[in-house]
Amino acid sequence: AQRPLADAYGRVASDLRLSLTDRCNLRCTYCMPAEGLDWLGHDELLDDDEIVRLVRIGVERLGITTVRLTGGEPLLRRGLEGLVSRLAALEPRPSLALTTNGIGLASRAQGLADAGLDRVNVSLDTMDAATFARMTRRRRHADVLAGIRAAHAAGLAPVKMNAVLMRGINDHEAPALLRWALEHGVQLRFIEQMPLDAQHGWSRTAMVTAAEILERLRAEFALVVDPAHAAARGSAPAELFRVVGTDQTVGVIASVTQPFCGACDRVRLTADGQVRTCLFAREESDLRALLRGGADDATIADAWVVAMAGKQPGHGIDDPSFLQPDRPMSAIGG
Ligand code: GTP
Ligand code: 5AD
Ligand code: SF4
Repeated sequence: AQRPLADAYGRVASDLRLSLTDRCNLRCTYCMPAEGLDWLGHDELLDDDEIVRLVRIGVERLGITTVRLTGGEPLLRRGLEGLVSRLAALEPRPSLALTTNGIGLASRAQGLADAGLDRVNVSLDTMDAATFARMTRRRRHADVLAGIRAAHAAGLAPVKMNAVLMRGINDHEAPALLRWALEHGVQLRFIEQMPLDAQHGWSRTAMVTAAEILERLRAEFALVVDPAHAAARGSAPAELFRVVGTDQTVGVIASVTQPFCGACDRVRLTADGQVRTCLFAREESDLRALLRGGADDATIADAWVVAMAGKQPGHGIDDPSFLQPDRPMSAIGG
């Protein structure tokens, strides 16, 4: 029998965001320092059997219907294709998506699709190779472009592209990013930067807001709110705009200026097996300890339900008492 992962505010989680590693092969300046972070050790990570078991409990008992694989950079996880095919064999089969920086995707998109991956979201903040190198501290711009094209060719549709704008660095590129996305049949979404960087350098005034992004886009494109999209938004973080003269949309994920926490249907599992009920949660629940201590499925499901009941109402970024969580975005899974 299914028991919903419900919280005290009437929300039910059905979308599991699963971090497969905290490591990354880029060093985006808004995410982590040049030297990287103090990565989790191999024994701290859940292995594939442990991951499959937790997801099986989620889909069989707790109403999880969607699984999004995240990182760090999930393509760095060895044997990812094998893990995807095991997750795709679960009953009821969850829909399977991947959020990646796109490096290495060019040669793996088809194999991932064959293994059962349904969709992919690729992060790309700039159309300029030099700006990419400056923002990510790696010269891999061409790899990412090739990865997006390969995802499209492999039928991982719709391919979405996520862009974070930084003032004075790439904020003038919003129209150029959209032009490229329209040409390549990709749905672009702009993300407001959140206080989740490892360096704790986020500032509200430095953040490029959704209103600014739309203003920049509207200098070159006519955008209209599509009533059908608005009605169907549900728990989706992006507000979508139709680009007039095309059959495509562009999205804005305004986590900070227009929080969508009230409709949140997400729960996260970190690469070391901790349930996080919110990106900004101050507490985690240790499912790995239960797994490794020999707990049965019912006990693990109970612990997950109890964790969920304590989910906070929202991110609280505007509260005077707001404290950035200890775990950075790269170790939570975006
Ligand atoms: P789909 O719309 O189903 O493709 O997925 P998604 O947009 O949820 O996934 P993706 O991993 O591409 O996330 C894009 C961005 O949405 C993240 O980088 C976050 O900025 C934001 N986001 C995702 N989940 C949450 C959340 O629970 N809270 C907040 N505030 N932002 C989130
Ligand atoms: N705020 C918002 N988005 C972020 N990302 C990384 N750090 C942050 C942040 N602090 C984005 C990446 C990627 C997605 C997974 O999350 O650029 O697109
Ligand atoms: Fe890697 Fe994503 Fe962080 Fe960039 S934002 S360093 S791609 S985890």
